[in-house]
Amino acid sequence: PTAYLQPDGEFFHPLVSSSYPEAKDLKLPAGFKWGFSSSAYQIEGAAKDEGKGPSIWDLLSHRVPNFVSDNSTGDVVASQYWLYKQDFARLKGLGVPAFSPSFSWPRFFPFGHGPVNQEAVQHYDDVISEMHANGIAPAVTLFHWDTPLALFTEYGAWTDRQIVDHFFAYAKFVISRYDAYVDEWFTINEPQYCNWQYSYYPAGKYYPAPNNITGGLAARFLCGHHTLLAHAKVAKWYHDEFKGRHRITFKNSGNYYEANSTSPGDEEARQRNFDFSIGWFGGPWTDGDYPASLKSTLGDLLPNFTQEEKDLIKGSCDFYAIDPYSSFLAYEVDGGLDACVSNRSHPSFPDCAGSTSLAPNGFPIGPAADPAMSWLYSAPSGVRRFLKHITTELFPSIPDIVVSEFGFAEPFEGSWSTLPPALWDLRRADYLQQYLDNILLAIHVDGVNVTGAWGWAIFDNFEWSLGTSVRFGLQYVNYTSLERTPKASVFQFLNWFKEHEETG
Ligand code: NOJ
Repeated sequence: PTAYLQPDGEFFHPLVSSSYPEAKDLKLPAGFKWGFSSSAYQIEGAAKDEGKGPSIWDLLSHRVPNFVSDNSTGDVVASQYWLYKQDFARLKGLGVPAFSPSFSWPRFFPFGHGPVNQEAVQHYDDVISEMHANGIAPAVTLFHWDTPLALFTEYGAWTDRQIVDHFFAYAKFVISRYDAYVDEWFTINEPQYCNWQYSYYPAGKYYPAPNNITGGLAARFLCGHHTLLAHAKVAKWYHDEFKGRHRITFKNSGNYYEANSTSPGDEEARQRNFDFSIGWFGGPWTDGDYPASLKSTLGDLLPNFTQEEKDLIKGSCDFYAIDPYSSFLAYEVDGGLDACVSNRSHPSFPDCAGSTSLAPNGFPIGPAADPAMSWLYSAPSGVRRFLKHITTELFPSIPDIVVSEFGFAEPFEGSWSTLPPALWDLRRADYLQQYLDNILLAIHVDGVNVTGAWGWAIFDNFEWSLGTSVRFGLQYVNYTSLERTPKASVFQFLNWFKEHEETG
């Protein structure tokens, strides 16, 4: 691993030297899918245009003070809604073979259900055909957190089971129309966070609290439960109707945890962290139920599946999609599990076993960096260990894994006049190269069946509660002129694929 800051304080240029030598001559397996993934609210803008209904994020960003750290909104951002033609032309020029947008539920159904907005239909028809015209294969996410606001007002959105049928109706409409032109489907993005407004801002004050659910853990696990049922219902219908024409799954979120020591307490903390992050949604899919530690820790806060629901969810994914961003050391907190239980109204409860950022591999978190953002600077070798751990320990039954997002963010403290440093993003370039090398090592050395990897992000975008204060893009976006400018990392990323792609 390369040190960035040399002892004399010089910034070291790592572009070539920091790859893993063992990965140099290894190739990606034939048919490996790669490109950029993305999401509607984070890049589209046009928040009030062409009949789109508001989503929960329009409300959170506009009405809840400081919900977004810099009080930015997704109203305009990179305006891909209007600029998709130039974006796809550029992807073609760069040689990117695939792109994975999310479609906006409140564009298609401004009220969540009921009348379809024909302007949205026309728009996404154009988006898909423009991608094909540029030789870019689409993989579409149906839902990336932009819940139609009308569903909150009507019944509390994901806290209520009615949403399962409304999501199903939306999904059925979209899949029926576009399946012939879309390579693969992701039903729901990172269900763990679909409902995060409930975790941080109790309902009642800024939006209604139907069903008397005002937030906290009960809401969190109830929402999670309904996302699983919604996904499973769509997947069942898709499998029956389309008989394996394309593949369908959801995108799970989860971090890698290493035990801080070999003490039983730390080992247990590690497992509990896995259970509460990727096991929460991965368990029902692979085993038909939640992990035992969720049940024992949460008791009545965790809803139960009926036998019929278990059968529906088990095996509902055609492959396992995971967004591995960060790696942490897990350690027992004072008081062990008891402390977790008594602390369980805390929003970050699932991490209450105690975790800290894994010593970054060549990515020192400088004294100026905000410790709250330590997850943004993660060890690229964590992904290799994570992929192996998933397939050997956590979910040995899964067929293959796709890294459905990976990326690296940096705070942007400059301005247009200091743009050159923002474009010369060597830390990101180096991180991505090391990360991809580690995927190759997982495939060739550890024997993990990884079949795809999607970079995050095509360009800078709206990073949810951090707004535009951090940037994940491999292209820079000037949010005033809307101009996109390639950063060094995009060339590094594309060269890496050129060098490692299987030919012939
Ligand atoms: C995963 C989420 O799906 C995406 O929306 C987010 O921007 C990235 N993580 C980075 O935090």
